[in-house]
Amino acid sequence: MTKVLIAYSSRTGNTEKLARAIALGVEREGGEAVVKSAPDVTKDDLIAADGIIFGSPVYFGSPTAEMKDLIDRSVAARKKLRDKVGAAFTTSGHITGGKETTMMTILMAFLIHEMVIVGDPLETGGHYGAACKGAPTAEDEEAGALLGVRVCRVATKMKS
Ligand SMILES: Cc1cc2nc3c(=O)[nH]c(=O)nc-3n(C[C@H](O)[C@H](O)[C@H](O)COP(=O)(O)O)c2cc1C
Repeated sequence: MTKVLIAYSSRTGNTEKLARAIALGVEREGGEAVVKSAPDVTKDDLIAADGIIFGSPVYFGSPTAEMKDLIDRSVAARKKLRDKVGAAFTTSGHITGGKETTMMTILMAFLIHEMVIVGDPLETGGHYGAACKGAPTAEDEEAGALLGVRVCRVATKMKS
């Protein structure tokens, strides 16, 4: 079964809610979703996953320090994440706010790990990942689920 790790940073729950919606999409596609708070993610969690999705609120246009710490700790899995599928998600306080810069920071780390990165599907925007302002609405949650579906589908193909 394709395993997708969804790691989030969240202080007031918005990003965690989006993480759980993404997990439902992975499960809809027949995959196993592992949802973890960023500080709880270990090197072994990263290595065991076929797909890795990181999400963070926008803090001053960037991921949180907690998410950056996970990215920095991922150096322990250097060379072991090659060809895994990666994607990003975020929530912000403002309509623009820095969602794209936050997701790109996550995706840049995945590129450095030689991962294969995917964005959200065209039906939900077709850009850099799943993103919303504040608490996710039902529509935002469905967009998140479709990102989960996409990552699981591509990760399954990469495995075969
Ligand atoms: C320290 C801090 C910095 C923030 N910086 C931004 C920002 O640059 N742009 C923005 O739109 N929202 C900013 N926000 C708002 C959060 O991104 C937003 O409330 C987010 O949905 C919180 O996610 P969470 O509920 O998962 O913690 C900031 C919040 C905090 C606490």
